[in-house]
Amino acid sequence: MKQDELIHQAAEIIKRGGIVAFPTETVYGLGADAFNPLAVARVFEVKQRPYFDPLIVHVASHRDLNHLVSEIPSNAEKLIERFWPGPLTLVLLKREEVPDIVTSGLPTVAVRMPKHPVALSLIEESECPIAAPSANPFGYLSPTTAEHVQEQLGDQVDLILDGGPCEVGVESTILSFAEKTPKLLRPGGVPLEEIESIIGQVEVRSNKEKILAPGMLPRHYAPQTPVLLHWSEKNAEAYRGKRIGFLAFQEPRLFLKFIHIEVLSKKGDLREAAANLFSAIRRLDALKLDLILAESVPEAGLGRAIMDRLRRASSQGE
Ligand code: TXA
Ligand code: MG
Repeated sequence: MKQDELIHQAAEIIKRGGIVAFPTETVYGLGADAFNPLAVARVFEVKQRPYFDPLIVHVASHRDLNHLVSEIPSNAEKLIERFWPGPLTLVLLKREEVPDIVTSGLPTVAVRMPKHPVALSLIEESECPIAAPSANPFGYLSPTTAEHVQEQLGDQVDLILDGGPCEVGVESTILSFAEKTPKLLRPGGVPLEEIESIIGQVEVRSNKEKILAPGMLPRHYAPQTPVLLHWSEKNAEAYRGKRIGFLAFQEPRLFLKFIHIEVLSKKGDLREAAANLFSAIRRLDALKLDLILAESVPEAGLGRAIMDRLRRASSQGE
């Protein structure tokens, strides 16, 4: 079937209260009509996601946005102008009509306009905003190809739209306008520096703050294999006899023996590294290793999002 027809079919499914996996520029989402609480409940069930973890609502126009939020601060408006469609999610005060299941009962709703043409067409044809978490089982890595979704959730979703590998590869940046000062809740596809160049300094959520949502849990975005982020070659003895894989940022120069090495970006480009991150971890995870050693990347621009995901993947905490 042609892509247009598949999108049409997917939109019919959404309108009837079904659930569809679809590509965005960041990761694949698992979507339902944001105004249909029963459909949204199925998304939670399929993902085995706790109900206290609110979803991001995806829109294709300003009109959609106005159906969801009661007020748009001028700084939020500026960011919308500059970054939408794109990997920036804004948390804004919600309208009463937005179902509690979408927002976990919070007075705010997270909204973004994705850039992927398939996502935009799907939202337009469905004639409703689409609530969608990443299309993976809760706590696991987000999918960046349709095959990833098929492997993990295949039979449980009504349709999977294939839009190729995701260009950005890490989830959207989440910025909250719930309080006076905008606050970064999750680093992601739009670098913090670019946001600050438009609205000035932004508060960054510290890890000591109360956990609002599981995306902020220390251990999240995690593969099955233990991941070690801070390690040293001096400890090589401790790794002897173990089956170890290496997640390298650039070309590795190491003495340890690895079963497999994944290089995120030979030329050290953070964009390329982000785009490859989840697929590379999945390939390593599939080898059933004892351990994955991960290399740090520079913590600037997209490197902030990459390091955030690596820290969570390697965290021992629940
Ligand atoms: O790139 C992305 O953002 C992808 C694609 C599919 O759009 N979506 C995604 O969704 O990463 P998900 O469900 O994996 O992460 C959504 C996170 C929640 O875990 C929570 O941290 C935050 O968004 N969130 C949603 N609503 C919120 C709210 N009202 N207040 C604070 N945080 C919220
Ligand atoms: Mg997720």
